[in-house]
Amino acid sequence: MGFENRSDFHVLVIGSGGAGIRAAVEAEKYGSVVLISKTITGKGGCTVMAEGGYNAVLSDNDAVSVHFEDTIKGGAYLNDEALAETLASEAPARIRDLFNWGAVFDLSPENTIAQRPFGGQRFPRTCYAGDHTGHEMVMTLLERLRGSNVEIRDETTALELLKDGDKVIGAVTVDRNGELGVITADAVILATGGAGQLYNVTTNSTAGTGDGYALGFRAGAKLIDMEQVQFHPTGAVYPADSRGRLITEAVRGEGGILKNALGERFMEKYDPARMELSTRDVVARAIATEILEGRGTPSGGVYLDVTHLSAEQIETRLPVMLHQFLQFGVDIRTQPMEVAPTAHHFMGGLEITKDAETTIPHLFAAGEVTGGVHGANRLGGNALADTQVFGRRAGISAGKCKSFVKEIDTSALDAVEAKISRLYDGDAAIPSVRRNLKSLMWNNVGIYRNELDLKVADREIGKMQKMPLKISSAHEIADAFITENMLTVASLVVSGALLRRESRGAHTRTDIKQKWTADNSPFGHTWFAGKKAGIDIVEANL
Ligand code: FUM
Repeated sequence: MGFENRSDFHVLVIGSGGAGIRAAVEAEKYGSVVLISKTITGKGGCTVMAEGGYNAVLSDNDAVSVHFEDTIKGGAYLNDEALAETLASEAPARIRDLFNWGAVFDLSPENTIAQRPFGGQRFPRTCYAGDHTGHEMVMTLLERLRGSNVEIRDETTALELLKDGDKVIGAVTVDRNGELGVITADAVILATGGAGQLYNVTTNSTAGTGDGYALGFRAGAKLIDMEQVQFHPTGAVYPADSRGRLITEAVRGEGGILKNALGERFMEKYDPARMELSTRDVVARAIATEILEGRGTPSGGVYLDVTHLSAEQIETRLPVMLHQFLQFGVDIRTQPMEVAPTAHHFMGGLEITKDAETTIPHLFAAGEVTGGVHGANRLGGNALADTQVFGRRAGISAGKCKSFVKEIDTSALDAVEAKISRLYDGDAAIPSVRRNLKSLMWNNVGIYRNELDLKVADREIGKMQKMPLKISSAHEIADAFITENMLTVASLVVSGALLRRESRGAHTRTDIKQKWTADNSPFGHTWFAGKKAGIDIVEANL
């Protein structure tokens, strides 16, 4: 072991999704930048998998104030309003950046960026590239990144953040060969995405393990609303090995309808005004209820049907869906899809300001690793916009940090080495710990929650955290630290879910009779900072 591999940059970006790449491209205008990715830049992460679209006010008939209000109402009034306002007002400029850099979005007959309706929005403001919008964005961003001076280090995982006093000054890393390294920087940006991988049914890539939440938490940063986990209403249920895979909201945006096994268009019962284009929390609960009450399909889902649309509309607007289902043996032009909710997006995360500053000096964050933008429920299409708006802001803020002399606390390096030595003596197999965690989270911390199940989850996660993880080669160091991160994040989700004694947005407590609505709740954010945790109490008219 040892930390011979040391380097110094102006800005270190951790994470290679849409927010990380956007941040790096911006920060590079101010000095040297290194971007580290535990996967392969442009291939891992969730942005590249995002299908449906990017919300931006582009039409004179729409308004930033309406996008803001839709975001707040959709977020069950738990959003940080300054962040939501920033998102709505800057999303148009950031999609124009992408367009000017060569992103090929679908166009309207008037040759403007085409927009489709998405759930919970009063205007069709979701821009798209067929149903592969995230892929188009990432390919465009990658080209900018490769044309810049940003140093890209793939298959390099951040194990711990390093601090000098209260300032973050870099990170301890491990590369694909199991070699440890130290990167120091005047500013660090966390853009590590969410943690859908805590659940055994998820849309997330294998990279979605919540590392940034855990790294930030261990470094003492404040996190908020970690209980707010979005279950996307429509994940694949058939065939079994495709379980959880994203079936884009664009299917419903294009006119897809949901039916139960009895052929009933059940959204009439749950949200007759908005039907399939209600917000995700409502649609996911509706589907889960239909299944729980015995009106599910043979594969345990409900039907999502586009057979009434023209073949041409399906082929041009939903080509990925069409192709994917053809591979499963289902032609969606003539047969319905079967879908059920799947863990998708974390609304909670690191508390940030409008300038993407966390609560720790010189640590910035952007994208899904942050909390507050989306409140208790994110609108479909707002995540891609979030990556660009706050990715750019994080890059600027980090870039503007002044250079300073950094003192590495060698005890932090010793602690990492000691932890790695203990891993060689451990006896708990990493795959089985992860498997158990994922089923526990799915069964006990899913769409419907209650105190009993949450307390069981809390106890079981506590036991898992005490298990000494085992590695047998340096190649497994990253996996062990990531597994520990997953356990930390799971415990924050459960603690937040216990603290929030109300149903709000994506968080539904079946054991609590509640007299208030989301817009008049006595509760604000749940929060975690070091060993302290709590829930804000706000003025309400009860
Ligand atoms: O359904 C989707 O295409 C996902 C979009 C999003 O999460 O914003």
